[in-house]
Amino acid sequence: MFELFLLATATLLVSYLYARLRYWRFTQYVHISQLPNHLLWGHLKVFGEFMYCGILDRHPDRIFEEMWESIGRPPIMLISKPTKLFPLSVPKSPTWTHMVPLIGSTSILGREGSRLNTCGTSYPFFLPLLLEKMETFWNRLDQLIVSGEEFSLETLISNLTFDVIGAAVLAVDLHAQHIDPSKQGEIIRLFRQLLAKRIDILIKNIIQHKYAELKEEVDGNRRQSIVALGLQESEALTPQLVSETSDQVRSFLFAGHDTNTSALQWAFYELSHTPRALKAIRDESDPRIICATLVHKGDSLLLRMHYINAVIKETLRLHPPAGTVRMTEPGTGFTVRAATGEEYCLDGLIMYSCQSIIQRDPNVYGDTADDWHPPSAWRPFERGPRACIGSELANLESRVIIAIVARKYDFIKTGLGESALDENGLPMLNGKGQYKSKPELYNASQKLE
Ligand code: HEM
Repeated sequence: MFELFLLATATLLVSYLYARLRYWRFTQYVHISQLPNHLLWGHLKVFGEFMYCGILDRHPDRIFEEMWESIGRPPIMLISKPTKLFPLSVPKSPTWTHMVPLIGSTSILGREGSRLNTCGTSYPFFLPLLLEKMETFWNRLDQLIVSGEEFSLETLISNLTFDVIGAAVLAVDLHAQHIDPSKQGEIIRLFRQLLAKRIDILIKNIIQHKYAELKEEVDGNRRQSIVALGLQESEALTPQLVSETSDQVRSFLFAGHDTNTSALQWAFYELSHTPRALKAIRDESDPRIICATLVHKGDSLLLRMHYINAVIKETLRLHPPAGTVRMTEPGTGFTVRAATGEEYCLDGLIMYSCQSIIQRDPNVYGDTADDWHPPSAWRPFERGPRACIGSELANLESRVIIAIVARKYDFIKTGLGESALDENGLPMLNGKGQYKSKPELYNASQKLE
C-alpha cells in the first residue's frame, strides 16, 4: 500500500515538473522571437549548433549575433530610460555572483542604486601616474624596436594596465612590467593563476599599511590613490571595512585590466590596416611635444585630440570588451515596449546587453555598420548610475598610448589578421581604404590557463 502511495506521489511530481518545464520552455516566453527551444537544454542546443557552423573558438557574442540575424533581427530591447519601477537602473542579474570567489561578495560590480558620481571618475593624479608608468612601457618598446623582434602587444599593454590600476587605486607598484615575468609583483602572478584567497590576503595587508600611512603622514607628502581618498574620512579601520575595500580593489583589477587591453589591441590593429586613419592621427599629434605638454598643461590637450578620441570610440563600437547583465524577479511586472510597438514582460529573464549586436545594428549604423570608420557613437561603458567607473581612466590611458605609439612607431599585425601582400610585397587596399587581411581577425573566447 505504502509503495503504491510512493509511486503515485513520484508520478504526480514528475508530471508536475514536466508540465512546468514544458510551460517554461515552450509557452511562457513564446511571444518573444526566438530560435527553437529544447525541453532539457533550452537554447544551449541551438547555440551549440551555431557554434559548430563557424570558427569554434569565436566569442559567444559573435554567435549571439548570428542567431539574432538568423531570425530576421527582431527588435533589440534597450532599457535606457528610467521607468516607474526602476528609476535608476534595472537590477543586476544574480549571474554576477559566479565571480564572488575572485572579487568578493561586497564588490561594486554587484551593487545596486546610484553611486555618488554617475559617470566615470577622474582624479587629477591619474595623468602624472600614467606618464610615470608609461616610461617603462616606452623603454620596452624601444628595446624591442632595436632588436627587431616580433612581439605580442597584449602582454605589454596588459602589464602596463595592471601597473596603472595598482598606482591609481592603491598607490603601489605592482611590478607587472618587470621584464622577467618571474620577478613580477606577487599580486600579478597570483592574479594570472586566479588564486583569489591569497590575493585577498595581500591586498588586505596593503590596505592596512596604507591606512596607517594615511593617519601618520601630513597631507602633502602622501601619494594619492582612490583607496586613500575612500579611507581618509574613516575613523577606524574595522575588519569589515578592510574586507569591503579589498573587494573593491580586486574588482578594479578584474574589471579594468582586460577591458582596456583588449580595446587598445583592437585600436592598433585597425590603425595598422587603415592607413588614412593612421595618417590622420599622425597629423593631429606630435610625440615630441605631447609628453612635455601633458606634464605642464594636463589632460586638456588630450581632449583636443579629436581624431584619437574618435578612433577610441569607433574601436569600442565594433569591438566592445565588456557588457552588463540585468534581471528582474518573476512577478515584478517589468515591461518594455519595442520600437515596433509590441510590449514584452521581461521578468525572470536574464537580459544581456550585447553591445556587439546593439552597436552594429544596420538600422542605426546603416549598411556600413560592420566597417571601422571613426567617428561614431556607442554605449561600451554602459549608461546610467552603474555605468563603468573606470571609463575616464581607460580613456585617458588609451589616448596617451595611441597618441604616442601611433606617431612614434611603425607597426604591422603578424599572424591572424595580417595583411595580404601583392607581388612586390606591399599590402593591398580594398574598396574601403583598408588593407586586405589574409585570415580575418576575430575575438576569441579566452580559455583560462
Ligand atoms: C575600455 C575599457 C573599459 C570598458 C569598455 C568598460 C566597460 C564596462 C561596462 C560595460 C561595465 C558594466 C556597467 C553596467 O553594469 O551597467 C563596467 C563596469 C565597471 N568597470 Fe569598466 N570598462 C573599462 C575599463 C575599466 C577600468 C580601467 C576600470 C578600473 C580601473 C573599470 C572598472 C569598472 C568597475 C569597478 C565597474 C563596476 C561599476 C559599478 O557597478 O558601479 N573599468 N565597465
